[in-house]
Amino acid sequence: MTIYNLGSINADFFYRLDHLPQPGETLASRGFTRGLGGKGANQSVACARAGAQVRHLGAIGADGRWMVERMEDAGVLCHAVLIVREASGHAVIYVDGAGENTIILHPGANRTIPDAVIDDALEEATQDDILLLQNETCLQVEAASLAHERGLFVMYSAAPFEAEAVRAVLPYLSLLVVNEVEAEQLCAAFGCTLDALEVPNVVVTRGRLGAQWHNFATGGVIEVPAIPVEALDTTGAGDTFAGYLAAGLSQKRTREDAMSFAAAAAALKVTRAGTADAIPTSAEVDGFLADRAGSAP
Ligand code: RIB
Repeated sequence: MTIYNLGSINADFFYRLDHLPQPGETLASRGFTRGLGGKGANQSVACARAGAQVRHLGAIGADGRWMVERMEDAGVLCHAVLIVREASGHAVIYVDGAGENTIILHPGANRTIPDAVIDDALEEATQDDILLLQNETCLQVEAASLAHERGLFVMYSAAPFEAEAVRAVLPYLSLLVVNEVEAEQLCAAFGCTLDALEVPNVVVTRGRLGAQWHNFATGGVIEVPAIPVEALDTTGAGDTFAGYLAAGLSQKRTREDAMSFAAAAAALKVTRAGTADAIPTSAEVDGFLADRAGSAP
């Protein structure tokens, strides 16, 4: 079973700050790092580190070869990542003392992925496979509709949130993944509750409150608790959750088990600074869970 991920690849420029800047404020950074990021690349790396087979579909500029090398080092298959004329995407990320962030995104090459990438890559896909999407690339509707037609399980993270982007892909989705804020934005934009959306499954990640999988066909809800940790950097936690969830489903874990696995991976990520580079392996997640079980009273 293969996970196809049409996703962004960004250079993440991290600045650690005492607090997030106010309008008109000049702030000195307490630390600077550059790493691999982009919601797409983060999710692909999470899938690979969780032990799943993942093919990334995307684009970089000539300046972005180091990012593809880093994805390949993590185990992501990158034959369908093209080098285009546009410079690679990048993100400027401010992280405060509590681990919260503000992100400015420059899409660059992520919005100029050639159509052929989708057609060529999905040609081999079967109905056992999964398509992952987020809202940082072009061709979301084309990929979602083609994958839906071929019977793939289509999973979409509505981030960064844009109501019209969700509306365009919704008819093709098997599973929509949102955080609590995105769920509220979605309901406000569509003027309805989540269960009235034309999508069979919605996962809502709720930070310290854990995560819920709503199956609207059966009316069932799977709820998994969050694992409390001291947050160093929450950036990429949602991507870690989504990638691990897709990996768990591709490995035929039960939905509940896949959700718990994803919640543990996201909790461990939050204790580390960075995005793709900080996503744990499944062995590290198992170790983290074993340590917690060992230290429980
Ligand atoms: O979700 C975190 C990601 O959002 C970062 O890696 C950044 O590149 C932006 O895409």
